[in-house]
Amino acid sequence: MYNKIRKYIEMNMSRPRFEHSLSTALICVELCSKFGLDEQKGRIAGIAHDISREIIVDDKLLKQIEDNYFISSDEKLNHVLLHGRIGAAFLRDKFNLTDNNILQAVRWHTTGHPDMGQLGQVLFSADYIEPGRKYMTSSLRDSIMELDLNEMTLRVLNDRTAYLRDNGYRIAESSIQLFDKLTKFGRIINI
Ligand SMILES: [Fe+2]
Ligand SMILES: [Fe+2]
Repeated sequence: MYNKIRKYIEMNMSRPRFEHSLSTALICVELCSKFGLDEQKGRIAGIAHDISREIIVDDKLLKQIEDNYFISSDEKLNHVLLHGRIGAAFLRDKFNLTDNNILQAVRWHTTGHPDMGQLGQVLFSADYIEPGRKYMTSSLRDSIMELDLNEMTLRVLNDRTAYLRDNGYRIAESSIQLFDKLTKFGRIINI
């Protein structure tokens, strides 16, 4: 499954996106190993998570999605938020990927969601800290990777939402729900 998806992404997506996906997959494997999760699933979630990131959501596609699924007001305002959901459906329909942990992780990797599961937390974090990210230094990444899974997710969520807020974007409802859930477990670790 990994090789099939990797090939598809290499052939159909831009080079930077392919490299980001490879790099995210490597960090996912590292985090799965650290947290005792299935490394193969992590590798697949990492390589596959942005499989629909380069699709343009025009009015026609939006209407098709809306006919079948509920679309939140956040998603309506910002179509990029839909690429996780579109990607999960694509992986299920075109690659017969049935593993719910992977599908949920891909589905929620952009905003995060309280139901995204541990693999989802790993993917959400790996997507942000992978070495190709311009803002990420190796020392910051190493410090984040020392945290436990909830602390790590909270730290990444906090950084991502701070960036959105600073740049005048709305914070998605599912991100706020995830924040509320995680703050019950721990606090934000400032590194
Ligand atoms: Fe993404
Ligand atoms: Fe990504």
